[in-house]
Amino acid sequence: MRMKMKLLLFLCCVLWVSADVLHEDLGITGCSEFDGETMFTLDGEELWYADFKQGKGIEPQPPFVDHVSYVEGAYEQAVANQQICKSNLGIHLKAMKDLPVEHDPPSSLIIYSRNFVDLGEKNSLICHVSGFYPAPVNVSWTKNGEKVTEGTSINVPFPNKDGSFTQISRLDFIPQLGDIYSCSVEHLALTQPLTRIWEVEKTQAGVGPAVFCGLGLTVGLLGVAAGTFFLIKGNECS
Ligand SMILES: *[C@@H]1O[C@H](CO)[C@@H](O)[C@H](O)[C@H]1NC(C)=O
Repeated sequence: MRMKMKLLLFLCCVLWVSADVLHEDLGITGCSEFDGETMFTLDGEELWYADFKQGKGIEPQPPFVDHVSYVEGAYEQAVANQQICKSNLGIHLKAMKDLPVEHDPPSSLIIYSRNFVDLGEKNSLICHVSGFYPAPVNVSWTKNGEKVTEGTSINVPFPNKDGSFTQISRLDFIPQLGDIYSCSVEHLALTQPLTRIWEVEKTQAGVGPAVFCGLGLTVGLLGVAAGTFFLIKGNECS
């Protein structure tokens, strides 16, 4: 089967660089035959993106920042830019006689939990996929071998400095002992999905605080022992 995939056109521009402290305000507009995105970021954090499925702009900013709102009409502008992008794409493809695009599979796939695992406590699993070209990837989740779609989400492709992309998918879940989760990634350059497994283990639950506490206590006691040793030694000499 021959995959029909057309060139992906991406236009990124640094909109504003402040003089005192270097901040990077990035606007991204991109399209392929099947997909498109418009996103604004500040220092690598997403501030606004166009959700073409829901037909509106989304501001995925965490509650602890001073919220930045985008002007009215930003979404309509994004839609108009998609049309321009797709029309440019058509012209470029024609000129380049459908030259094949280079395909890079994801170079990194990591799965981890957002918070320390507490059995029965709400948490999220994060599947971090990076280093692929072109965008996007498809990410699917399973729980104990069964496909899960509820509570999943994925962000729009984020361009890396080297021209490849990163995407992050999440799954909201409640850890129960012995549950096994997996995250599978599909990409044009992969003949079969790439999968990572994540298991809720007894040792994982609360392991973070317990280990750090134990380690801290040990180091502390060693410090006291060493201090005492040198104190005695020092007194012996004088
Ligand atoms: C992602 O899923 C869609 C819909 O199922 C499919 O058409 C597309 O080919 C998939 N993309 C990749 C890269 O596998």
